[in-house]
Amino acid sequence: MSALGTTVTAIRLTVNGRPREVNLSHDMRRLLDVLRIDLGLTGTKEGCGEGECGACSVLLDGKLVNSCLVPALQADGSEIITPEGLAESKAGKLLAECFTECHGAQCGFCTPGMMMASAALLRQNPDPDEQAIREGLAGNLCRCTGYDMIIDAVLMAAGKGRDIW
Ligand code: FES
Ligand code: FES
Repeated sequence: MSALGTTVTAIRLTVNGRPREVNLSHDMRRLLDVLRIDLGLTGTKEGCGEGECGACSVLLDGKLVNSCLVPALQADGSEIITPEGLAESKAGKLLAECFTECHGAQCGFCTPGMMMASAALLRQNPDPDEQAIREGLAGNLCRCTGYDMIIDAVLMAAGKGRDIW
């Protein structure tokens, strides 16, 4: 792991199971930009850019983070799962099915982050109740049709996929 402030030109990441090396243009380059611009993984969205909306959610060594707040340098040596990686997994496929069935897939900005947060929640708690889901998704904002269909989708996924998270 590299320390902030040192001069490092390249970082190594494992992204969606694949080793990647990225040259950083400066030490505070955001993980979000590395994913979207350097690696072309545009499933991770930028909403607020300030850690408030969750659109940029990814899993960093299994933990849900807002990639707009993470300097890429801090992620050196880490394993990252983006919405593209989640979509390839059994968990991601089930979440996509349930979000679709419950009409929880609404706008394209929030839904990838919602699914990342849902996967992180279900890894920690495979049998959440409605309150636990609301708390688990509290960092992910939706300003269109509300949260009820999203909560339904996560409850459905929890019911169908107990052993895949
Ligand atoms: S873009 Fe990162 S939290 Fe909104
Ligand atoms: S899902 Fe994006 S605003 Fe509601």
